[in-house]
Amino acid sequence: MKLLSVIGTRPQYVKASAIFHELKRYPQIKSVLVDSGQHYDDNLSEIFLRELEIPTPDYNLGVGSGSHADQTAGIISKLDPILEKEKPDWVLVYGDTNTTLGGALTAAKRNIPVVHVEAGVRLGNRAMPEEINRIVADHLSTLLCVVTESGMDLLAKEGITAPNAVYCGDVMYDVCLRFKELSAQRSDILKKLKLTEKQFIAATIHRAENADDAKHLAAIVDAFTTLSKEYRIVLPLHPRTRKALEQAGLMGKLEAAVTITEPLGYLDMARLTSTAALVATDSGGLQREAFFYHVPCVNIHTDVFWPELEAMGWNHVVRKVDAPTIIATVQNGLKKGTPKTWSNPFGSENNAKAIIEALLTYGNIRRTA
Ligand code: UD1
Repeated sequence: MKLLSVIGTRPQYVKASAIFHELKRYPQIKSVLVDSGQHYDDNLSEIFLRELEIPTPDYNLGVGSGSHADQTAGIISKLDPILEKEKPDWVLVYGDTNTTLGGALTAAKRNIPVVHVEAGVRLGNRAMPEEINRIVADHLSTLLCVVTESGMDLLAKEGITAPNAVYCGDVMYDVCLRFKELSAQRSDILKKLKLTEKQFIAATIHRAENADDAKHLAAIVDAFTTLSKEYRIVLPLHPRTRKALEQAGLMGKLEAAVTITEPLGYLDMARLTSTAALVATDSGGLQREAFFYHVPCVNIHTDVFWPELEAMGWNHVVRKVDAPTIIATVQNGLKKGTPKTWSNPFGSENNAKAIIEALLTYGNIRRTA
């Protein structure tokens, strides 16, 4: 079987790391790796390939930044001749970025079956670019590797069921388990930033709905400024958010209050997340990672990403991005601390294996059908 994977953004490098690690046990699967180049800064791409031991991509499409239309169209036109040349049996896409959409669409148009890792996620908000990407990628895919049981129910409502949809869990958990110890050994981020374990908040903001919305961005800066009087806040800053803060003239105010760093590599970020008292973020991936590390999390977004985590008390969703709500939710999250129960709705300890086995099983079903 020839499996061609399309990746290109920071969270996709993380997820791909789990699959490539597991693929070593399956010599019958020949792998081809395409990097879309959606993320191109070293600290958003290269460092992840290196730290997470991902094979060097066979192709880089170099699409870079641009409008959604330009990014998606660039991926389609550059990926298509590669699919023609490589003739893979399957194309594998991850998550919900424009790279996911471009990869799924190009393959589907060539009648190459698509396997979608992290399928079955819906926030119910079509204003989010990622929601469009999720829906389209799921509906174009032949095999949907679903992250949660509730995702299976969501897909069933849209008419997608077994054998196409398979609950496989979250490969980010595999990566957390594999690199937790290593991050403690190799990362000196706590020392570098003079941080004490459980005495700080780790924050990230990168969603278009926050970074590109003047009101939301100002509210987050206000909230972090107020909270920083009581708590140390560390904010590795995505370039999109940095640009928006600079344009809004908010960088000086934020820098005076919180510790801002460049985007961190995987090991430093894992160390920061796993040792924080609380994580405050609009990243769906980091919300899960905080949970995997048993760290409570505040989701700075209007939508609920992971209802299971909210129900268990691990995730506190602001729902309204204004300063008083963010401040109250963070304070409440810190006060409540660590919930008593932890049970993982994101699969087993080797979700990459579940995905590869699902792929092989589906191939067999097709052959015998
Ligand atoms: C993308 C995904 C988002 C994912 C995130 C992970 C889409 C629609 N969004 O958002 O779902 O959570 O990746 O980080 O696909 N930039 C750089 N250097 C880079 C890459 C980007 O400076 O290497 C800057 C550029 O100004 C660019 C902006 O960041 O315009 C946004 O980048 P883009 O790839 O469009 O989206 P992300 O915000 O990274």
